[in-house]
Amino acid sequence: MSKIKRIGVLTSGGDAPGMNAAIRAVTRTAIYNDLEVFGIRHGYEGMINGWFKPLKSYHVSNIIQHGGTILKTARSEEFMTKEGMQKAYDKLKDNYIDAVVVIGGDGTFRGAREFTSEFKIPVVGVPGTIDNDLYGTDFTIGFDTAINTVVQAVDKIRDTASSHSRLFFIEVMGRDAGFIALRSGIAVGAEAILIPEVETNVATLKDYLEKGKKRKKSSNIIIVAEGDDAGGAYDIAEKVKEDFKDYDVRVTCLGHIQRGGSPSAFDRFLASRLGAAAVEALLDDQQSIMVGYINQEIVHTTFNKTVKHNRTINMNLLELADMLTF
Ligand code: F6P
Repeated sequence: MSKIKRIGVLTSGGDAPGMNAAIRAVTRTAIYNDLEVFGIRHGYEGMINGWFKPLKSYHVSNIIQHGGTILKTARSEEFMTKEGMQKAYDKLKDNYIDAVVVIGGDGTFRGAREFTSEFKIPVVGVPGTIDNDLYGTDFTIGFDTAINTVVQAVDKIRDTASSHSRLFFIEVMGRDAGFIALRSGIAVGAEAILIPEVETNVATLKDYLEKGKKRKKSSNIIIVAEGDDAGGAYDIAEKVKEDFKDYDVRVTCLGHIQRGGSPSAFDRFLASRLGAAAVEALLDDQQSIMVGYINQEIVHTTFNKTVKHNRTINMNLLELADMLTF
């Protein structure tokens, strides 16, 4: 029998569609197992300040279909300090919270790793970020919705790009990782995909465009991850324009629309499985781990491993994208 009686749940870092579905799954799985649940508002900031609110089953009704997070989210500088963590620990103890589920990305798990190495309290993580850049899971909650948002937007841009025979540079999110760019780029049939993991060579890009021109392509879509080494979409467009004065170039930055919207069926399903798995892990005396989803199975990875390892890009997918363009 687990000693845990009361758990806290929070969302931290950039929000992601499906976080609400995860909060619902954590809350209902905990209640099903006779635990009390407290929602911690505004991420680690709320843990430091004791912004706790009891969550009953009805509090999480009708949220599975909504983007954002009912618990709000934040990036807390104070939690990164020893004093901040001490305050957070004291608040949890004052409120008899014995364990915490944290839903977020890399920064969230870095915080959780430090916290659990300083203080004795079980914490389990659920991967929630649109970036899909976490080691220990095939998919993070929000990624599928985000790429579908990108695909819908780019399909619309393709219509106008073809009508005017234009070259579009479209910037998608991914400060450090190209997973959104790569998957959505393949799905929209992008002429090129530029990601932070691969050095961008503007000369090679120009060759591509020349080849496309010979084939009389009616439009060109270049997907650029925001963290690309050659700069953002605006910077790269400027470099290309210098040599290709006859190209009618436009730039669109998709921005934060990628973070919002109703979660896809896949994200709701994933969040439901992972949220339940997090509570089950706590009941099974697991701690300092992230629950992930690999080959359709729940997998546990220590926070230490998750934050130390970088998820690698599958280079075959970039080759596939290139091959299918010509
Ligand atoms: O959620 C992850 C992410 O979307 C990154 O790809 C992006 O760089 C970042 O968040 C931007 O977040 P914010 O505007 O909240 O700083």
